[in-house]
Amino acid sequence: MEEKREQWGSRLGFVMAAIGSAIGLGNIWRFSYMTYSNGGGAFLIPYFVALFTAGIPIMILEFSFGHKMRGTAPAAFAKVKKKFEIFGWLPALASFGLLTYYVVILSWALSYVFYSFGLKWGEDTNAFFFGNYLQLSDGIWNIGGINTAVFISFILIWAINYFVTIRGIAEGIEKACKVFMPVLFILSVIIVIRGITLPGAIEGINWYLKPDFSKIWNPKVWIDAYGQIFFTLSVAFAVMIAYSSYLPKDSDLSNNGFITALANCGYSFFMGFGTFGILGYMAHTQNVPFEEVVSQSIGLAFVTIPKAINMLPGANTLFGVIFFVALVFAGLSSSISLIEAFASGIIEKYNMPRKKAINLVCGIAFIIGLIFVTKAGLYFLDIADHFLANYIITAAGIIECIVLGYIYGAHKLREHANAVSEVMLGSWWDFCIKVVTPVVLGISYILNIKADFTQSYGGYPWSANFIVGWGAVIATIIVGIMLSSSKWKKDIFVDVNKEVQG
Ligand code: TRP
Repeated sequence: MEEKREQWGSRLGFVMAAIGSAIGLGNIWRFSYMTYSNGGGAFLIPYFVALFTAGIPIMILEFSFGHKMRGTAPAAFAKVKKKFEIFGWLPALASFGLLTYYVVILSWALSYVFYSFGLKWGEDTNAFFFGNYLQLSDGIWNIGGINTAVFISFILIWAINYFVTIRGIAEGIEKACKVFMPVLFILSVIIVIRGITLPGAIEGINWYLKPDFSKIWNPKVWIDAYGQIFFTLSVAFAVMIAYSSYLPKDSDLSNNGFITALANCGYSFFMGFGTFGILGYMAHTQNVPFEEVVSQSIGLAFVTIPKAINMLPGANTLFGVIFFVALVFAGLSSSISLIEAFASGIIEKYNMPRKKAINLVCGIAFIIGLIFVTKAGLYFLDIADHFLANYIITAAGIIECIVLGYIYGAHKLREHANAVSEVMLGSWWDFCIKVVTPVVLGISYILNIKADFTQSYGGYPWSANFIVGWGAVIATIIVGIMLSSSKWKKDIFVDVNKEVQG
């Protein structure tokens, strides 16, 4: 008998959810910061090259893999070869790890929706964010207890995530994304229109679009571009494999892959006009060079933007609410997909009722997340993010390309995609999967290891990097091994031949 598998209500619902997963905090603050620190327009060239040589091919790869195997990442890899199951758990666990602190950043954004009323962040937005709001302690080992202001938002954000994912694919995730995405789109259009019509905006936009070709030869710019593409598209996180496993049999995979990736990157590019317009306006108002108005990554959303909101000629509160609500909506559709990436694997492996799996995943993530809600939370978040992104996710990406490209055979997935899709993939696609992506990721892997062993990341004490950073990496691998060596409660292999060959 055909197993009863949850399914999307419609193609639009699937695409909305995939785009919802992709569009998140990364598109608004990470993209602007990356573009900014890598020389503005100079970054856009490697960014779009990375989109076409890695982003889109991997997106289609994951869609085809999940769809063909009709399984979440662990099951899908196990169907290639039983021993490969761990390669599905690693990215699923990476999603879980990201989830624990992603909701914390979302909580900050939610708090800032409320602070927008009456511009509560005051004149010195930097002191407000790190001092009054985060109450950041003077060093990572000075943990200092839970921060109440962050904690309140944290509970609210978790509540929303919980109530969406507990309702399942079509009733929960799909319905939520069908509301979040259009609202986000409207808010974003307002932000961009406001941004580009401010005096001085053109300076910022010029900086955004004008390529500085001298930067293009710097390998760091390329590595950042590929890293940003992986992060922003949510690939190598087990999410897209799980989502596509809920697609009906005759779904156009390549087209959906193109649509999801292009919508996501188009959105980032579009929002860039808003952000850089506002930054240009700030430079103009303060009469300083453009380079001087921007602060580092997290600061961009929570320090620079509030400062810019203070300076707007009118409707300041309204604009603040719009900006931070947009951030929250963008992030929520991503965090629910992070929950789903891991929970769906558990549901499938242990044949567990959805409710129980969601309780378990949300409960544990909530508890682990508390460390990021303490007064040293930002330090922990910074280290966890660096190690997770550079070691687990990069490794998951390389492994995925090698296992699917060489061992399983990229051409088989290409034929699968071509059988159901309108756009035909050629052998260029195999080349991107088998050569371009693993080579670029491999180089960045080596450079990262080298950097982290010669210099303690972020200037933190070595003890912190070892315990928090490598600790998280090792814990992920151990849990991954434990999960993959436990027994399947459901026989997913019965129909494997029929499905894999069929
Ligand atoms: N793409 C998301 C963003 O830009 C972040 C992200 C990375 C993500 N990997 C993910 C979200 C996996 C959901 C699932 O913010």
